[in-house]
Amino acid sequence: MQAGLESLGIAVPPTYVELAELAKARGVAPGKYVDGLGVTRMAVPQVEEDTVTLAARAARMAMEAAGCTTEDVGMLVVGTETAVDHSKPVSSYVQGLLGLSTRCRVFETKHACYGGTAALLLAMDWVRSGSAKGKKALIICSDIARYGVGTPGEPTQGAGAVALLVSDKPKLLAFETGKTGAYAKDVMDFWRPLYSKDAVVDGHYSVQCYLDALEGAYKAYQEAAGDAGGEGMYSDRFAALVYHVPYGKMSRKAHRHVRTLDGDKDVDASFDRLVGPSLVLPSQVGNIYTGSMYLALASLLSCSREDLTGKRVGLFSYGSGSCAEFFSAVVQPEAQARVKALGLENLLEKRRALSIPEYEAIMAAREKLDDKPAEETPGEGFRYQGTRDHKRIYAR
Ligand code: HMG
Repeated sequence: MQAGLESLGIAVPPTYVELAELAKARGVAPGKYVDGLGVTRMAVPQVEEDTVTLAARAARMAMEAAGCTTEDVGMLVVGTETAVDHSKPVSSYVQGLLGLSTRCRVFETKHACYGGTAALLLAMDWVRSGSAKGKKALIICSDIARYGVGTPGEPTQGAGAVALLVSDKPKLLAFETGKTGAYAKDVMDFWRPLYSKDAVVDGHYSVQCYLDALEGAYKAYQEAAGDAGGEGMYSDRFAALVYHVPYGKMSRKAHRHVRTLDGDKDVDASFDRLVGPSLVLPSQVGNIYTGSMYLALASLLSCSREDLTGKRVGLFSYGSGSCAEFFSAVVQPEAQARVKALGLENLLEKRRALSIPEYEAIMAAREKLDDKPAEETPGEGFRYQGTRDHKRIYAR
């Protein structure tokens, strides 16, 4: 039985910071953030937004796009590393906000940015095995990426969610059974202790860990696919490569590494063709951790000018700590038109720019978020209103 993505949905905050402005405020040359890191804008969540509200919004878009009812979903998993509770999963809140059926497996997965991929691959096997019995899995990658103000990680923040509806009727991508290569190694490149809201990172070491994991997973994929050798560069067997994107330059480093492993002498020559379209949306949002690679996938399907129908896409997911996977999928007929119809570029254009003092005020307010007594907040859609009797209260 085939399994894959029937639809997807994206949620991003309505506000962002221009990285050129942030650079000026930090006394850094704007070129370092915009060209050096490859990020133009970074999404900043409003105080009433959290991992739950972003997840619920993305899920609603994915469900509406597929005409999926609340009874159709038999598994709901949220992959996140910025959960809101040590025990109750983000997915339980999402189940409540969306009014999903009680006949549903609901849980959360964690392994840094790899958490969503772990859930996706599990859901794929659930569908293929027949255990799903026609039901769909809703996999949501939702995070708010946060580093300390003024730290080297600050320009690599972001916030957002990507929801993936997995079923036996893949209308966007069909994943290739058994074609995955995993790599895991216990490293301290990036982590967030239980007592901290901000991530701790050994930045340059994390780049090396990512590249080591990419090499391990890429080689494992080739062994699993059983088609190594033959004519030409191995990575040219893919019409596009989608890498985990903490910032655009990391994807360039990743691609150079893959082409070096392939024996290419001109490692940048294929970058625009194989990777470029996947970076259009991420460069406007920043790192959204678990959702980053899936935002890049949405970017590819939305922004590529090439007809990708029937072509193979390679995907590389990396989670610090670390676990990584290289896997592949085939683009389905009309997938690009379906993703274009979501209007994702327009969604990003409609956001409002924050001044640097406004951004810093939001970051400070978020520090005290969990102590906020619940109060009615104006507005529409899913909103976090604060706590009452230690319970998080949401408006829908
Ligand atoms: P840094 O040390 O301040 O920056 O922080 P740098 O000195 O390395 O400079 C960055 C780039 O800008 C360099 O390019 C400079 O040459 C260039 P590169 O050598 O890398 O090609 N540059 C300029 N370019 C144009 N004009 C200029 C200029 N000046 C310098 N004027 C660092 C960079 C990434 C370390 C930092 O932002 C950081 O710590 N970020 C967070 C960690 C991270 O994102 N790591 C990525 C790999 S790990 C991962 O992806 C997992 C993760 O998503 C978490 C998870 O799994 O949950 C993070």
